[in-house]
Amino acid sequence: MLDVSNLKVCYGQSEVIHGLDFSVKKNETLAIMGRNGMGKTTLFKSLIGVLPSSDGVISVDGVDVSDSESYQRVENGIAYVPQGRMIFPNLTVQENIETGMGVSKTKQVPDEIYALFPVLQEMRHRKGGNLSGGQQQQLAIARALVTNPKVLLLDEPTEGIQPSIIKDIANVLNEIKKIRDITIIVSEQVLSFTMAVADRIIVIDKGNFIHEGLRDDVDTEHIKKYLSV
Ligand SMILES: Nc1ncnc2c1ncn2[C@@H]1O[C@H](COP(=O)(O)OP(=O)(O)OP(=O)(O)O)[C@@H](O)[C@H]1O
Ligand SMILES: [Mg+2]
Repeated sequence: MLDVSNLKVCYGQSEVIHGLDFSVKKNETLAIMGRNGMGKTTLFKSLIGVLPSSDGVISVDGVDVSDSESYQRVENGIAYVPQGRMIFPNLTVQENIETGMGVSKTKQVPDEIYALFPVLQEMRHRKGGNLSGGQQQQLAIARALVTNPKVLLLDEPTEGIQPSIIKDIANVLNEIKKIRDITIIVSEQVLSFTMAVADRIIVIDKGNFIHEGLRDDVDTEHIKKYLSV
């Protein structure tokens, strides 16, 4: 569903992502794990097209999107939940979700979305900025899902969120997998979360992949070593 080859990303003269190759299948969840500053956000921004890549090919369901603008990549089936969530604090919950929906269509948030996130239905007339961090994360995921993505990217969805809500987010991602044909790629530092959602785990270190394994084969102590400072 997503194929990436020889992806390189630079800030000015400094290359931060060094020729990554990976593929993610339909209905597969991949976790990309790495410490602070290892290149997770840079990789995700280049996949959605808010940062240009300096080399490589990105294709979604067989369509080469390497030279496409972000909005075209969304049309081709990529959705992005940014680190820090980036919801609109002065728009209501419902309006935030609607920003993910096409402007021409009659705007109605699908029932499926409120079924996945009952708290968002309860709070639909509240300002996004007045939600808790965990609720804002759910809102950011809802806003991404209304584009009906083939590939959903989530950049550190558990950052700054308390353990009980982290479990809720893991449950919701697993529920989404059950009801939709979707490929999920999540960047993370929290191993218990990735063990609960991912089929496969890759470790990124200074813009290179240094370890890869199926969740069922993962030696958690081994992965923890890569994640600790
Ligand atoms: N706008 C920028 N200009 C120059 N260098 C940058 C910029 N943004 C990030 N970097 C550098 O690129 C590297 C990768 O950063 P990135 O934000 O992708 O890491 P990350 O894995 O997402 O970290 P975190 O877990 O803290 O979010 C770091 O060395 C960082 O300092
Ligand atoms: Mg980051």
